[in-house]
Amino acid sequence: MDHAEKLRPVSTHPPAVTGADAEARRLSGKVVVAGTLRAARATEMFAVENPADLAEIGFAPRCGDDDVAWAVAGAHDAFPRWAKLPARTRGDLLRRVADALEQQSESLARLLCLETGNALTTQARPEVAAMLEMLQLFAGLGSELKGRTLPWEEGQLCYTTRDPLGVVAAIIPWNAPLFLMAAKLGPSLIAGNTLVMKTAEQAPLAVLRCIEIMQDILPAGVVNVISGFGPEAGKPLAEHPLVRKITFTGSGAVGREILRYAADKLCPVTLELGGKSPNIILPDADLDLVVPGIITGMRFTRQGQSCSAGTRLFIHDNVYDEVIARSISAMQSLKIGPPMDEETQVGAIISREQFERITGYVALARQTRGTKILCGGARPADPALQRGYFYQPTLIEGAPHDSPVCQDEIFGPVAVAVRWSDYEDMLSQANGTQFGLAAAIWTRDLARAMDLVQRVQAGFVQVNQFITPRATLSYGGLKMSGLGKENTLESMLEHFTSSKTVIINRGTPRA
Ligand code: NAI
Ligand code: MG
Repeated sequence: MDHAEKLRPVSTHPPAVTGADAEARRLSGKVVVAGTLRAARATEMFAVENPADLAEIGFAPRCGDDDVAWAVAGAHDAFPRWAKLPARTRGDLLRRVADALEQQSESLARLLCLETGNALTTQARPEVAAMLEMLQLFAGLGSELKGRTLPWEEGQLCYTTRDPLGVVAAIIPWNAPLFLMAAKLGPSLIAGNTLVMKTAEQAPLAVLRCIEIMQDILPAGVVNVISGFGPEAGKPLAEHPLVRKITFTGSGAVGREILRYAADKLCPVTLELGGKSPNIILPDADLDLVVPGIITGMRFTRQGQSCSAGTRLFIHDNVYDEVIARSISAMQSLKIGPPMDEETQVGAIISREQFERITGYVALARQTRGTKILCGGARPADPALQRGYFYQPTLIEGAPHDSPVCQDEIFGPVAVAVRWSDYEDMLSQANGTQFGLAAAIWTRDLARAMDLVQRVQAGFVQVNQFITPRATLSYGGLKMSGLGKENTLESMLEHFTSSKTVIINRGTPRA
């Protein structure tokens, strides 16, 4: 710690981290089970690191079977009463949760910034806002939990109900922990389920803090949160017999594991997995929109750590040189810096593991014949940024379509550019990965746009923009990008409730 303090980059801004630092220490070693922030049953801990300076900001319990059993029991005990509340009452409580979190917006954003390395201004604060928007959406959906009636036989009443499933397990990653927490918690709770959340080992604290705040409002046990490693905490949680629904966001490999755990108990699963999304630029596109769209689409302000990032740029030959030149200049003008600084636009990569994954792919690209690194491909030169996991926005060209940099999700600030002139060939490359999550198309030609919209294999398609997923926009991938949709009324009904068909033979009144 002392060592880290000494080496911490000198900032020209006053250290704003005191609040978040104290908060991180206070939350260390804790879980929320059965209504209380408390010490975990696990006694082993793992460090939580600030990826911007490698300082240990706190620690989290390495939960295993004991904590899983405890948390699931808490959720299971709370379930009958929560399920019986009128849906509008659950909605009122969820709205109060959102209000309480909103009151703490700034401190939550700072804690999130501290543990993820995501810049406060461009990423952490907007993520808190998106989390609130998500909770507000689901708070208002209680009145939609309705069934249908069916004209059946004379003298019979036939109708359906929407019922909660029971205990939901949510396993989330670190790249947008608060947004994803809300995307899992909102539909679970409004539908009448209770929840056990397993946070990502890299970023457990901001979610823990949110769930602590909720305990003043929600009945005990409705939302529980544990931390720990995937195989030790996530696996027993997913496999627990009382867990009746699993919702997961993360890597494809783990998503497929989750599906296997669920198979043995026939438990419904929603999976949001990775992507390698195409960003398709046609020759008539408005380049004043395209260039900022490439930057936004790449999620450079989250260091590219986004499943929906537009990482493959298919740029038509006629505009290729201009788009590349302007994109390089836009990428180089992004301000990389200490995440807590108000001027910083790009923060740090989450962990050593992810940093090495990124540098590994760039090294591989360097060795690939015909492949060029057009910009980035290194840490920033700033001597103050040598300690943390900072990496420059990077653009690669000439990588063969079947090479790993073009096929694998790198999950960092690395885009690959592809020059194209043959439309069909370009489209088959755009669709030529295992993924099918997002896509964007840039053109003024409506017919072309609609042709691509129809033929591109992706679940989340945009024309002339490339925004991130938001509440009310249905989100979910094709192929290896996932199973099921999120963030809407329909996804809540489909994935977080079961339906019951009731046929009442009411008889006929006696004369
Ligand atoms: P991961 O899939 O290993 O971790 C995500 C969550 O799953 C974490 O909470 C983790 O503890 C849990 N987990 C891991 N193994 C598990 C198991 N056997 N059973 C139950 N839970 C388990 O992702 P990781 O290692 O953080 O990132 C690796 C790659 O995954 C990234 O480079 C990226 O390509 C992809 N990824 C995709 C995300 C998305 O938004 N779709 C988010 C995070 C990662
Ligand atoms: Mg992993």
